[in-house]
Amino acid sequence: MTMIDRRNLLAGSAALLAATTARAADAPTDTLKAAAASKGRRFGSAFAWSPPGADAGSFANPAYAALLKRDCDVLVPENQMKWQAIRPAADRFDFSRFDPMVEWATTNGFALRGHTLLWAYSKWFPAWLNNHDFGQRPAVEAARILDQHIDTVTKRYGRKIESYDVVNEAVDPDTGGLRETSLSRAMGGTAVVLDHAFRTARAAAPHAELVYNDYMSWEDGNAKHRAGVLTLLEEFRRRGTPVDALGVQSHIGLFKPTTDAGAVAKRLEPEWRAFLDRVTGMGYRLVITEFDVRDKGLPATIAPRDKGVADFARAYLNIMLSYPQLGDVLAWGMSDRYSWLRGFEPRTDGVIARGCPYDVDFRAKPLRGAMLAALAGGVQRAVVAR
Ligand code: XIL
Repeated sequence: MTMIDRRNLLAGSAALLAATTARAADAPTDTLKAAAASKGRRFGSAFAWSPPGADAGSFANPAYAALLKRDCDVLVPENQMKWQAIRPAADRFDFSRFDPMVEWATTNGFALRGHTLLWAYSKWFPAWLNNHDFGQRPAVEAARILDQHIDTVTKRYGRKIESYDVVNEAVDPDTGGLRETSLSRAMGGTAVVLDHAFRTARAAAPHAELVYNDYMSWEDGNAKHRAGVLTLLEEFRRRGTPVDALGVQSHIGLFKPTTDAGAVAKRLEPEWRAFLDRVTGMGYRLVITEFDVRDKGLPATIAPRDKGVADFARAYLNIMLSYPQLGDVLAWGMSDRYSWLRGFEPRTDGVIARGCPYDVDFRAKPLRGAMLAALAGGVQRAVVAR
């Protein structure tokens, strides 16, 4: 190498270094919240309660709190606002875990989503509600219990909670019909319960975005679930039920063995777009409420697994982010260390699922890079009133 060559090379590297440094400093896209903000959106995550310092996906765990502060604008309680957590009996509420979460989030400048005012699925009802004696006038008693719940929660937190998953998972994925519960039997049908919940929420929290949240997803085998959700959304419109947005949970996944996640995504894209077109065509906005990636179909080896997860996520998020109607984007946890996927759906080979943006040691993974790129590359969010 001549002196001239060496000088050019050095000058070139210096210029490259300067450009990279400038980019990092200016970049609106070096955190997930900044990437989302560059297109008028917010990014967020689920979080939990724990005693101070516990090894948990909690605000009280400094390692986890640091991830939330770095990447998130908006938080949602993973479990602590559900009936099982806050309503131990028909006549008793317990906010001892959720209150400190709300306090921490608001003092640290986070927005909050509420999950959920009604998980319309017996499996997730508290036992007392499944077995409740609704008495001589069951419809009145059921409406009283439901109204009291929605009023108590929404009024306690007021404007601190800006968006609610009012109803969660009311559609049975196997049939596309609505699930029956003790409330639906008492009130004369599931549709009555759901309308009642949304109307009560609108009256009690007129400032809030009201969301119907469900897990109809883009993978094979979800056609009935998607059709059922479309029917429900159509009926809401026909009856004038106040629903602003569809919450697309987005627990996406590769379940069958594959080495080409991009190809799987390409095959799934047309039907998924058709679904989203129908939803937005009815005037609903979209929210990604619980994003993570199930990696069962990918090899255990970390590099190809992380690449498959990132490729699948990027393709999915690129589609979602091509809709100006898409608002907030929330992950269902930031670190694999605390992800519900570890317990809910363990891999058959026993290795830890890698479906969150950070690994078990809080290191950013390729998935975070894919999320960053997709958020930065999305279309501008449409301006909305509520
Ligand atoms: C899950 C939590 O992550 C778990 O800790 C809990 O045991 C069960 O619920 N859809 C939802 C969420 O709407 O509330 C679920 O959260 C995940 C699937």
